[in-house]
Amino acid sequence: MEKLHGFVGLLLLVFGMGDVRACGGRSPYFGEGSQALIHHSYANDGEFLITHMDMRLAVNFADKTIEGWVEYSLVHAYLRDNRKPGTVPPYHFNPITGNHILLLDHRDMDVLGVYAGGSFDKKSGMLRNGAKGLLFEVSSGSADTLLFGKPLEIEVPRSQSKIVIHYKTRPSAGALQWLSPAQTYDQTHPFLFSQSQAILARTWIPLQDKPSVRFTYTSEVRVVCGAAGAATVGANGSRTSITDCIGVEDPDINPTDFNVVMSAVKLGNPEGDIVSNNKVHRFEQKKPIPSYLMAIAVGSFGYKSLGKNTGVYAEHKLLQKAAWEFADLQKMVDAAGEMFGEYAWGDYNVLVLPPSFPFGGMENPVVTFATPTIIAGDRSLVSLLAHELAHSWSGNLVTNRTWDDFWLNEGFTVYVESRIMEQLYGKNYADMLRVLGKGELDKTLGWMLKEAPEDSHLRLHLGDRDPDEGLTDIAYEKGRFFLMMLEQLYGRAAFDEFLNGHFRKYAFGTVTTDLFLADLKAFHEKQLKAAGKELGSSSSKSPVTGNGLRPLPTWRDFEPLVFAWVDGEGLPNPQVVGGFPKVESKEFERVEQQVSKYFASGEPLHAGSSIPCDASVIDTSGFTTHHWLHLLRKFHTRADGSPGRLSRDEMAGLDARFHFTQTQNAEIACDWFVLSIQSDYRPAYQAMHDFLLKVGRRKFLMPIYEALLAQYVVKDGKYEPAFAQGKEMATEIFLQAEPGYHSVAARSLRELLGLPLTGGSGR
Ligand code: BES
Ligand code: ZN
Repeated sequence: MEKLHGFVGLLLLVFGMGDVRACGGRSPYFGEGSQALIHHSYANDGEFLITHMDMRLAVNFADKTIEGWVEYSLVHAYLRDNRKPGTVPPYHFNPITGNHILLLDHRDMDVLGVYAGGSFDKKSGMLRNGAKGLLFEVSSGSADTLLFGKPLEIEVPRSQSKIVIHYKTRPSAGALQWLSPAQTYDQTHPFLFSQSQAILARTWIPLQDKPSVRFTYTSEVRVVCGAAGAATVGANGSRTSITDCIGVEDPDINPTDFNVVMSAVKLGNPEGDIVSNNKVHRFEQKKPIPSYLMAIAVGSFGYKSLGKNTGVYAEHKLLQKAAWEFADLQKMVDAAGEMFGEYAWGDYNVLVLPPSFPFGGMENPVVTFATPTIIAGDRSLVSLLAHELAHSWSGNLVTNRTWDDFWLNEGFTVYVESRIMEQLYGKNYADMLRVLGKGELDKTLGWMLKEAPEDSHLRLHLGDRDPDEGLTDIAYEKGRFFLMMLEQLYGRAAFDEFLNGHFRKYAFGTVTTDLFLADLKAFHEKQLKAAGKELGSSSSKSPVTGNGLRPLPTWRDFEPLVFAWVDGEGLPNPQVVGGFPKVESKEFERVEQQVSKYFASGEPLHAGSSIPCDASVIDTSGFTTHHWLHLLRKFHTRADGSPGRLSRDEMAGLDARFHFTQTQNAEIACDWFVLSIQSDYRPAYQAMHDFLLKVGRRKFLMPIYEALLAQYVVKDGKYEPAFAQGKEMATEIFLQAEPGYHSVAARSLRELLGLPLTGGSGR
């Protein structure tokens, strides 16, 4: 039996005396019925639905584990629907008892016991004596276990609507990243964060890990320190050991130093409540959420309010800076609520994570998790907050039913994000973001149409492929431009009505591409009718759209275009109604003029001539991050999508004038490093190497490592492919950096570099 620690220890004492007969035994009916992975999950939600979880979590930095006692509230679908046991396949049941078998997703963890008896005492966090051990077993499942884990089977008596699972995560848990103090901003305390989307929630909580199942939750979290998990709080409430939160004794780190957030409203003191010398952090999520929005972060960080229902969490030394950067957060929340309906989640906070966070942001309800790389010092990267905030409607309120419908989460969100940005900062600003988005989409299509053209459909058919593979610019940018086309077709006012209706209709539920298409058809027909009425019977002209710009096609004419977007390859023809919308930016015309001027200032050395272009001709007055990005992308991507390059002299000239190598803006740095690698500009390499060791945001890592893999070097004034050398360099840097990367970034890079995949984070 595990060593006792904290409140968990007390629980085990109760079990020691209680009725734990069958714990770990085998039901002859385990492994029967379908063990097939359906939409990336083994959960049999046709037989049981989890409606609520009540969690007790002990976070242990010393051994990098979370020990959990979770009570699940279950609905027996067969009882609810008055069906006979096992009458509707796929089913999992014991024909002798008539008990159904619950299948949960789980991975990278050890299940220590499963109990029932309706005896989980919420106040004390203990099970009462009557608690009964249930039979459970880990089956093998039908798909890649490293990725999907294995089904956890539990025979649940028909009389029980509550069960408790006691488990402990392994240090390899894919969702969790355990950071040393050196990997944080303040460098004083270790840090833990989770990243559950898409299918990693199962690596830290056993659950029905599919977006179509929603549940509420309550949670109590403690940080436990002490040698290998020894009790920090003794039976009489006194501290019994010197803390060693990080695996070595350190009197400066105490469990009470830590703050905790989850994707839920925090109850009690925002810093946690002291109970028997330790801190307890309590949470409540009253709105039903899908599993991928389960989130936790633990570290030494503070909080600053930014308005009536907004605020920021960041490590102490970063807090002021973060608060300054996010000053417009309240305005964003208010503007979004005005346009798309009331904000549903109470407070909207942003937690700034250490730089290894693998994403830009993650829309965990109540607390968005964000990369520190958006803190550029000039508020120029806050569209990322607008994006995560937008998910409060598209994604968190109305959720993609399966990962095949991921575009319904992300495409809608990018569209809503750009509306928020336009509302706050004007059309010119939003247009810059649209052009940058289109550029990224074109780049993605450049390889995708050759390598996996069917992945360029909005609606995916992932089967047993990792849902991570659907995370491309197609869902985001093709999805957004599809909605932008619809907005232009119907007019903004009418389209807003459609969107608001969508958010109301599916609130706290899920949506599929088919449902969306049916709604769109109904809306389209309504618009046709309304337009026809407006024209009156006297007019024979075809109906016009809400903005009156062009005739609204009949649904019959329009439908093929809609399907070209949803189930077609690449991008629809921009020349036709319903085709790809026009994307242009006035601001960027200015940048393009500067690029032309630059190229005209010499006889481009990079094209084999001898008069280098002159950086001093470029006028950058009024440039924001977006202007710089557009400039750099004009340099490093040719019109046909192939990599561009400049001569080393030209790179040196640009660097001397604009100091790109030293930039603290991670977006600009990323583009500069890509250009530097393409141009074999060595003076940037040390900074690039340092960047790869520090930053774990996958969006930045991938293009830099990809550029390294495709490296050319200059020899005798000529570019020569140096793939072997590039790969060697990329692999060397990666192996050095990997211990600091989150598992999802490490996994993608291992695939890119052709290295074997490890389970979880491998650490
Ligand atoms: N929900 C996504 C991140 C995600 C998607 C994680 C799928 C895992 C699986 C988040 O909202 C997102 O899109 N983040 C972007 C932000 C950007 C588009 C502004 C990112 O991290 O780059
Ligand atoms: Zn998103």
